[in-house]
Amino acid sequence: MTEFGRALRSRFLLDPEITFLNHGSFGTIPREVFAVADGVRQRFEANPDRFIREILPGALREAAARMAEFVHAAPADVTFVDNATAGANTVLRALDFQPNDEILTTTHAYGAVINAIRYVAGRSGAKVVEAPVPLPALSADAIFEPIAAGFSPRTKLLVIDHITSATAMIFPVERLVKHARERGVRVMIDGAHVPGHLPLDVPKIGADWYFGNCHKWLFSPRGCAFFWASPEAQTLIHPLSISHGYGKGFIEEFDWTGTRDPAPFLSVPAGIDFHRSLGEAKVRDHNRALALAAGQRMAQRWGEPMNAAPELLGAMVGVRLPERWQRYGAPVRDTARKLTVAIAQAHRINLNIMPFEGALWCRVSAQVYNEMSDYDAVVAFAETDPPPA
Ligand SMILES: Cc1ncc(COP(=O)(O)O)c(C=O)c1O
Repeated sequence: MTEFGRALRSRFLLDPEITFLNHGSFGTIPREVFAVADGVRQRFEANPDRFIREILPGALREAAARMAEFVHAAPADVTFVDNATAGANTVLRALDFQPNDEILTTTHAYGAVINAIRYVAGRSGAKVVEAPVPLPALSADAIFEPIAAGFSPRTKLLVIDHITSATAMIFPVERLVKHARERGVRVMIDGAHVPGHLPLDVPKIGADWYFGNCHKWLFSPRGCAFFWASPEAQTLIHPLSISHGYGKGFIEEFDWTGTRDPAPFLSVPAGIDFHRSLGEAKVRDHNRALALAAGQRMAQRWGEPMNAAPELLGAMVGVRLPERWQRYGAPVRDTARKLTVAIAQAHRINLNIMPFEGALWCRVSAQVYNEMSDYDAVVAFAETDPPPA
């Protein structure tokens, strides 16, 4: 039986001197997946022409087929992009918005994605509507209702996270997609955190476009996101970089977007194998139970709220920082970044401080190499002052 926690640490490249509680931001991969990616790069360098012309097209399709199977999709509907940011831009920048069209999203959408939405809206005269989802969110209804209230006859596109970034909550995506569909509204789902984090049946959700990072929770090298489009919605988009496959259909267009390092994509099957070797459900259960227990300890000792009801949480949890830590600085992105780095330097703990609606929140992640004692020093923030600004 695989033991999780510290016993698994040596299978990762993590510096033993740090306490890594921020898997959610950029992920990290086990040594065996690192070796697979290294092997891909060595085979590539041995004969670049042969690799690109003879090996890559088939190898990429094989990797996409493994990913498709992992998310219950048809291989013909799955391709790869560099990251979730690219996935979001792919859809947003391909669609044709008119003045007064509305793009509906939420106050919890990822900052970079909000920027992309604002960019396409600004260019076309469309309007951005940000539904105010509360924090903490105490039920799925508390998430669903403000978003449902944000629809109007002019809504053209709904952009929702499956798991939000700063606020780490799981959105009721199937219910939201159904609501949008009934109003003839197309849906793009940002599943940046989802592969390897939640069980995922992408076609069942019923959106038009869905993408998710493999480099976060699926143990794949950076940058690597899978990108799914329903067969009908495939016809509405093109890759960010239009290349030789233009006009030849979804797979041909997306599988070649110019010369790049394919090692992350070709290592996805190894990431899936690693995840499965530990037991997919066991990984999810371990991570969720640990995140929840850590969050509850932090919230209790700090006397502060946790981000969401337990049923809305996965392997990440957010807790509002104690009052003495709020005084570190104004609750804006720059302060949060500085405090995140200051904590890493002073305590050798990597976590993520993020601003949300007038307060600083602390997000910790739980991965298979973590165990309860990893969170002790964070719980003790209740009795300590933040590092000097
Ligand atoms: C919800 C969400 N969307 C998009 C992203 C961007 O991911 P990437 O930097 O891999 O593009 C993140 C990253 O944390 C995220 O949490």
